[in-house]
Amino acid sequence: MRTIIEPFKIKVVESIRMTTVSERKLILKKAHYNPFLIPAEDVLIDLLTDSGTAAMSSKQWSSMMDGDEAYAGAKSFYRFEKVTKELTGYRTILPTHQGRAAEKILFQVAIQLSKTLSPVIPNNTHFDTTRANVEHVGAQAVDLPCKGGTNPSLRKPFKGNMDLEKLENLIQEVTPKRIPLIMMTLTNNSNGGQPVSMENLKMARKIALKYKIPLFLDAARFSENAYLIKIRERGYSNVSVASIAQQLFRLSDGCTMSAKKDGLANMGGFLGLNDPAWIRLARSLLILTEGFPTYGGLSGRDLDALAQGFHEVLDEDYLKYRLRSIEYVAEKFIKLGIPIVEPPGGHAIYIDAEAFLPHIPPQEFPGQVLVAALYETGGIRACELGSVMFSRKEEGTLAEISAPMELVRLAFPRRVYTQSHVDYLVEVMQDIVKHKQKLRGFKIIRQEPVMRHFTAHFCPL
Ligand SMILES: Cc1ncc(COP(=O)(O)O)c(C=O)c1O
Repeated sequence: MRTIIEPFKIKVVESIRMTTVSERKLILKKAHYNPFLIPAEDVLIDLLTDSGTAAMSSKQWSSMMDGDEAYAGAKSFYRFEKVTKELTGYRTILPTHQGRAAEKILFQVAIQLSKTLSPVIPNNTHFDTTRANVEHVGAQAVDLPCKGGTNPSLRKPFKGNMDLEKLENLIQEVTPKRIPLIMMTLTNNSNGGQPVSMENLKMARKIALKYKIPLFLDAARFSENAYLIKIRERGYSNVSVASIAQQLFRLSDGCTMSAKKDGLANMGGFLGLNDPAWIRLARSLLILTEGFPTYGGLSGRDLDALAQGFHEVLDEDYLKYRLRSIEYVAEKFIKLGIPIVEPPGGHAIYIDAEAFLPHIPPQEFPGQVLVAALYETGGIRACELGSVMFSRKEEGTLAEISAPMELVRLAFPRRVYTQSHVDYLVEVMQDIVKHKQKLRGFKIIRQEPVMRHFTAHFCPL
């Protein structure tokens, strides 16, 4: 059969409040044209993020009833630890309430133990919270996307890869002592959700070993990355996704995990570590900021939902449906002439807003304009990943350097929407295509110095 069905039945439903275009115009204005400031109940289809928005399975809900809420040594922790250790092979797993809590601890540990002044942390591309946490501890975050990785229309299977030549040049230029760790983000969320190949990770590992620098994964979407390796990289078509995922983790010295993605749960994360000195310090910081090491910011029931989630996320029928639904949207958008990051990755469609709205320059935030149009036209909430989120201040001046790409991300919550929701999205985009020439740029009228995209206020020009 050609039709790939959702491999689940719906047991519980949440109703969507329908709104009209004129209602949405007012809501958008009240939210200062920032989708993060729109109440969720005013959204028809919420593609703001795939983080913490998954529908949990009946098995996850039933495992939560068995959650053990003991402060220390809860059964739930041991079940969570068993699953995550089998998956990753790390010596220690420290649960955290979400991914950025693991990042905060990891970078603090790395900087404190490396005792280096002016540390530098390379990544294929830092996610926004990762970059913010790196900079928060006084380190420099350097992005090293592979050649062609930031060219949206280039069709290559692993555009999430790291540029390894640049990595080695950077290590030699700043010296290995200044690099407390190298990080690799799977999949590369800020770079169009593109996967990293096993080959690229193996080579990064080799370089890391050569210079004695630990290699860490930002593993939020490890399972989608593993599935993309299975279907795109030579030699893996007969290997199970579970085994590919295990191999990925075993090429690293540790990871930060936002389990709100491929943990199929609404909250959670962990820090995985191998080095005893790092573990000791990280555990102390965990107790200080998150909680005792057998719960670390999570309740027992959350740990049980995650233990089951990490199991379900490696089900290949689920992954086949998940990747195919993203591909389906991509095919429809390409037919409509909408420029997207190609080929689509595992969790989202990224529209190239700069190419879609060439009459709006990056300084007027074409991504934010498209995000507002999606909401006004169809009640669809999306997220800008362009100059609102990633522009930088030029050193010594107040001038802003625009982001390398002006993207709009339509991130699909796991197991939440059906094909007709997706067909509605396509129809909304078709309508926007017709009137896109009338869209005008935005200016920012209020912003915070860090991660401004969450709270900024905009005004149409
Ligand atoms: C690649 C990546 N790393 C880290 C994070 C941060 O995780 P959390 O939101 O759980 O703090 C995210 C969240 O979207 C992400 O996509």
